[in-house]
Amino acid sequence: MSLTRRSFLKRAAGAALWAALPPFLPLGLAGTAQARTNVLARPGRSGLYGQCAPSGPLTLTARPVSGLLPGRPKAPLLVYQTVHNGATLYNPVLRLRQGQEFRADLVNGLDQPTIIHWHGLDAPWTQAGHPLHAVPPGGTHATAFPVTSRAGTYWYHPHPHGLTAPQTYLGLASFFLVEDQEERALAAELDPRPEEADLPLLLQDKRFDSAGRLLYAPSPGELAMGYQGPDILVNGVADAVLDTPPRILRLRLLNGCNARLFHLGLAASGRPVPMVLAATDAGLLAAPVPVERLFLSPGERVEILVDLTRAKPGTEVVLGNLPFDPMHREEGLPGHGDSLDHGQHGEAEPGHGQASGHGAADAGGHGSGHAAASPGPAPRQVPEGAAYPLLRIRVREGASTGRRIPERLASLPQAPAPPDLVRDFALAVTGGRWTMNGLTFAMDQAPVVVEKRGLELWRFVNADQSMPHPMHVHGYLFRVLSRRGSPAQVQDLAVTQAGLTATDLGFKDTVLVWPGETVDVALDFSRPDYAGEQTFLVHCHNLEHEDQGMMLNFKVK
Ligand code: C2O
Ligand code: CU
Ligand code: CU
Repeated sequence: MSLTRRSFLKRAAGAALWAALPPFLPLGLAGTAQARTNVLARPGRSGLYGQCAPSGPLTLTARPVSGLLPGRPKAPLLVYQTVHNGATLYNPVLRLRQGQEFRADLVNGLDQPTIIHWHGLDAPWTQAGHPLHAVPPGGTHATAFPVTSRAGTYWYHPHPHGLTAPQTYLGLASFFLVEDQEERALAAELDPRPEEADLPLLLQDKRFDSAGRLLYAPSPGELAMGYQGPDILVNGVADAVLDTPPRILRLRLLNGCNARLFHLGLAASGRPVPMVLAATDAGLLAAPVPVERLFLSPGERVEILVDLTRAKPGTEVVLGNLPFDPMHREEGLPGHGDSLDHGQHGEAEPGHGQASGHGAADAGGHGSGHAAASPGPAPRQVPEGAAYPLLRIRVREGASTGRRIPERLASLPQAPAPPDLVRDFALAVTGGRWTMNGLTFAMDQAPVVVEKRGLELWRFVNADQSMPHPMHVHGYLFRVLSRRGSPAQVQDLAVTQAGLTATDLGFKDTVLVWPGETVDVALDFSRPDYAGEQTFLVHCHNLEHEDQGMMLNFKVK
């Protein structure tokens, strides 16, 4: 079959996807008196997800704060609070230049242990946030590392063992953006006011109880499959709206959900709007890649460019989730068989005892878990594989910037040839739990030992009767070399002979591995050249999986 015919067929089959995406926001707050509160704020210098470019040490206090979520005055949110240049910020979006020294003091204002992990950033293991370094309530932890990472969209979130899922879910997470000269030059080329066109957007699903508080109360089945909720928030805002003059928007999208996958596309009146993939987890691609849709799993980031320079005022573009098969084919797990109802029970199956994660719903002392027992109206349902909107972009009056997306974005080395040293990581259910090579996490054991010397090929092999696992490696970036055995919905997105999708093309720290799939990645253990022996983690970024031990230490020496 000729390429053109093939891509035509793909397109024809795909058109139904966009048609399914509701052009308007039918759910939640839209159309109510609160509709005005869902306009996304321009990146500011204070408040929730305010931006800050620290030149000296920063104090981040993890604590519950009420009244931060628009339209949810009662919902306490766990946040990292800081004061910078006289302004108070919650979950600040940190912007650092390559070459700067980063210093942060964590103050634990929660009622359980915590530690911050700097996801994707180069930092020796003692500074990167390992569960071994979690500090007790009232404790503090000092972090310092030079920013040597590639310019890119990194992030930070808690990593205490067994408590990462509840603490992240209840609010603790934000961006860590690294800038360098090349990236700044591109930003200036894309827009005369790059700070306004560059939007870090944290995508998260949440569940609220009948009192309007965040609810983290997974049932045994949800612990096995991952905890999802029906409220889709963008930077804390439900039914989010973004107003923009005609310009090129640079959207930095982070899937900060515990477990939900996104299949993202842009639509206007039910038809696809082209978008351009500019960056993956760890920075820019060599050249822009036009994409119609992409999968984004928990922990992953992409930067997409949306060219609205010629859009008429009044144009509405919806960033939404397109229908897909979430592929919950797990066997031998508690809750197996309810997978179709997965995430849809709302408060009907409150977790209890240890199922709720060591009293984790009480993190910060607001006890939201207990509200689960009170009867309420049937919860709203937004299944993972359904079509639903995340963000409505409205083009308003204004002079167009008239800019163009350049043909080259950044220097990106070629992915290496497959290294000889191959390590397998089998992802499967063993003894009723998710395991890697049959193992679960043990704090004092490092089942994988690698030498600092150079390249290794890590092969993630997902069982057929399984579910998608976003696999994440600490301390080292990787390049994806191949995908084999991919399901049809992933094969459809392949852009190389080796089965890579567009989002596999750059530097990565998290890669989605579908049921039945084998994904090969190359890691270079000679860079960064950390001093001394290191203990890093490789784990599934489905946070319920991680907390229950789908994680291993690896030693580098
Ligand atoms: Cu973002 Cu070890 O995780
Ligand atoms: Cu990480
Ligand atoms: Cu997993």
